[in-house]
Formats: sequence, C-alpha cells, structure tokens
Amino acid sequence: MKKSIVGALLAATALTSTAYAEDSVEVLHWWTSGGEAAAVSVLKDSLEAKGVTWNDMPVAGGGGESAMTTVRARVTAGNPPTSVQMLGYDIVEWAEQGSLGNLNEVAEAEGWGDVIPEALQAFAKVDDVWVSAPVNVHSTNWVWVSKKIMDELGVTEAPASFDDFIALAEKVKEAGYVPFGYGGQPWQDITTFDSVALATGGLDWYKKVFIDLDPASINSDTMIAALNNMGKIRALVDENFSGRDWNLATAMVINDEAAFQIMGDWAKGEFVNAGKTPGEDFLCWRVPGTEGHVTFNADQFAMFNVGEDRVAAQNAMASSVLSPEFQVAFNIVKGSAPARVDVSDAEFDACGKKAIADLKAASEAGTLVGSQGLSHTNRAAVKNAFSDAVTAYFNGELTAEEAAEEMADTVAIANQ
Ligand code: GAL
Repeated sequence: MKKSIVGALLAATALTSTAYAEDSVEVLHWWTSGGEAAAVSVLKDSLEAKGVTWNDMPVAGGGGESAMTTVRARVTAGNPPTSVQMLGYDIVEWAEQGSLGNLNEVAEAEGWGDVIPEALQAFAKVDDVWVSAPVNVHSTNWVWVSKKIMDELGVTEAPASFDDFIALAEKVKEAGYVPFGYGGQPWQDITTFDSVALATGGLDWYKKVFIDLDPASINSDTMIAALNNMGKIRALVDENFSGRDWNLATAMVINDEAAFQIMGDWAKGEFVNAGKTPGEDFLCWRVPGTEGHVTFNADQFAMFNVGEDRVAAQNAMASSVLSPEFQVAFNIVKGSAPARVDVSDAEFDACGKKAIADLKAASEAGTLVGSQGLSHTNRAAVKNAFSDAVTAYFNGELTAEEAAEEMADTVAIANQ
C-alpha cells in the first residue's frame, strides 16, 4: 500500500475512533427517564467498583429506534461502542452481520447456560456463540393503575375481561379523570397492541399473526376486532396524547390525573423513583383478558467487536451484568424480573414478586410469548410493517379494515 493511502487511512481512523482507556467501556442505551437513569447508575456503580470506567452514550427514545440508528452510524464509521442495549431480533441481525463479539469464555466459566432461561438464550446466543449479556425480563401486558381513582370508584379488583376494562375506563371518564394515560408514539402504539391483540385474539392467533406471519390470520375479522379495541382506547385518551413520552404518561397515573397506563414494567421504575409503593399508591394488573400470559421483552447488552485492548473491560461488564447481586439490585430499580432463574425474589416489591411468579408460571404453562412490539417475535422490517398500520389506524388515517389489509400486504413484502 502506498504511504499516502496509509496516511489517509490513519487520519480517517483518528477522526472516527474514540480513544478509551483499556479499563473502560462505552455503553449506548436509551435509559433516560428518571427510573431508567436510576437503574443505569446501579450498573455504572457496579462496574466502577471493579475498576472499569463507564462512558455513557444515552440516545433517548423508548423502544430504541433512535438508538439503533446511532449504532448503525457508529458501526459504519468503524467505531462501534463497547456495548449496546438491544432487544430480541435486533441482536440476531447484528450477529448475522458479523458485528458482535464472543462471550463464550465468560459464559462458560460462569455457567450462564444453566441459569438464563431458554427464551432469552434464543437471542443472546447466535450459532452457539454468546453475543450478548441478558440484563432482565420485562413484560408489556401490564396496566399501571391509580389506587386513589379505583378507591373513589369502589373498585377492588381487576376487571375480568377486556370489555369490562373498557366499561370501567368509561366510568373513570364520567368521574372526571383521564381514563388512559397514553403516549402517541409509534413504538408505544405497537407495544400497547401486544396486550390488545392477545386479549382480543388469544395466544394461538397472536402466534399465527406475529410469529408465523400467516396472511389469513393477519387480514382477518379478529385483526379488525383487535384494531377496533385499540380504537376504544383511542376514544378514552386525553387530547394531548400525541407524541407524549411514555414516562410522562406514567406521571399522569402517578399524579392520579389518569386511571390507567398500559405499559411494560419499566413504568414501575417511575413509580419507585417517585417514592410510591404498590398496593398503597398504585396497583399493577395484567391487562384484563391477558391474565395468565406474559408478553416478554428482555433488555440485553450486545457486545460489539472491539479491539483486543477493550475485550477485558467488555468481559468484566458481561460478568457484572449476570452476577446475582447485580441482577437483584438493578431489577428492583428497573421494574423488571431478573434474567437468571436462580435469584431470590425476597427483596422485590409486590409487583416485582408478581412479575417473577407470572414469568415462571407462564414459562411452565407455555403461555410465555415474545412481545411483537419490542422485537421479540420477528425482525425489524416485519415489526415496522405491523407498527405503521397500527399507528395509521390509531391516528385515524386508515379504517380497521384498511389497516388489516395493509398489514397483510406490507408484512409479506417485509418478509421476502
Ligand atoms: C424498552 C426497554 C425498556 C425500557 C423501555 C422504555 O424498549 O426494553 O427497558 O427502557 O423501552 O424506554
């Protein structure tokens, strides 16, 4: 190679790569709300206790779409972060592109295979290589409930069905409160659709649609009914819902302005961060009509291919994330269940204990299923095809019939 080309390459590298000390990690994530930031601090502190410096790279935006755009730019520039918060099929896609590292040595030494549930290993391990460290198990079919409003309405237990839930939400409206604290952003629409679809069509239909991508199940009367149920929620949100961040919708329930928020259990992190106690200040119900089922998403830290000098810190981070002490400390703050099955629930609050028990029961009963909204049933292109149609319907741009038909068409194209 000619000297001038080498020089140009070196100059380009200097422009794009970040110089970090060997004992540091750069971590890209989208945990920017109050509860999430508190959880990040737990991770940062546990690493710094090991002498590993934390370089924070937050990219706001629940669901991680903005974060994934930033990652793509960094990898294209030849300068990936040490580690990236990632969900489900996004991990698999990055691994297939050859961008992720190899954690097998740490995983084998620490026996990850024996303690991490199969459902998580399906994404953490690609072609027998551990490429990421699972952090937690969240689930999306929760509703966060204002205890004050329920007390005022004399409600002591969760409605038995989705229809009863809507009937109760209408009573909330008559009582002068906002029924659903809601954030109208595409990732929130499609994540809410996890619960609404499952409550409307049941588990087999959910799998036929989001995992098998069966056209007849997608463009079906059941899909139209599921979309109409989204429409019932749409009729019970306040007028400022559009574009609202999820944690601001959680705050509406925390402040007893809204009765309900359908949201994953990261919402509980906001209640905890606000000093609220389950059973006293707020309630956690499974979305009526989905009781007995868990639609899960697991945050993982995907480890990118980095220079030899950064591998030791990367391995230290992976090891920290899976340590039983960290799993307890972090997940109590985050609102999630641990990513290991051998961790005690003793220190978790009532909602955390329910999350852990529900997960175990659903896993044994075969009623644990990936969240389609958060990339645990199919690849990004397919998820986006569903998501676009649900959001267009929610915002009144398509009828339910048109949205169901559009989904079938765009999913088929995305799956080619
Ligand atoms: C999800 C993620 C959660 C939470 C949420 C809102 O994608 O799995 O950990 O951060 O976004 O930001």
